Amino acid sequence: MEFLRSVPSFQSLTEDVLSKVADVLEATHYRDGDYIIRQGATGDTFFIISEGQVKVTQQTSANEEPVFLYTLSKGDWFGEQALKGEDVRTASVTAVGDVTCLVVDRESFKQLIGGLENVSSRVNDSDEVKGKIEAEAAFFSM
Ligand code: CMP
Repeated sequence: MEFLRSVPSFQSLTEDVLSKVADVLEATHYRDGDYIIRQGATGDTFFIISEGQVKVTQQTSANEEPVFLYTLSKGDWFGEQALKGEDVRTASVTAVGDVTCLVVDRESFKQLIGGLENVSSRVNDSDEVKGKIEAEAAFFSM
């Protein structure tokens, strides 16, 4: 609970919602180099990093090397894209050293976290991802 309360993006969640999140999440451990998420795979889980760091990489075309995008660390979260509309992972996420993530399933994410403005509107630098998000937003506002 205390950790969840310290996550900047969750500041606006009530104690009640935070304790529901705490009830449903599962702590999962990863070792250096483990794939937590593979780009292109289907996915229905949201991750909050409680220990360690992860690396986000993205491959823009099939025959190119993945491009490094970001390092995320304790208190950061990822995996929200596949839970909004299409369930395809937009990037790969790998562990850098030992990592512990708190994992939330799709249904709980939708009910408890998905409505947060700062979670639903993460800025992505990839034009491809941006385009996809804009297309989805246009679709849902029809
Ligand atoms: P998802 O597509 O479900 O799985 C891969 C995750 O990587 C994605 O959700 C985002 O949480 C994260 N991600 C994708 N692109 C970026 C980016 N440009 N910056 C930070 N995180 C990203």
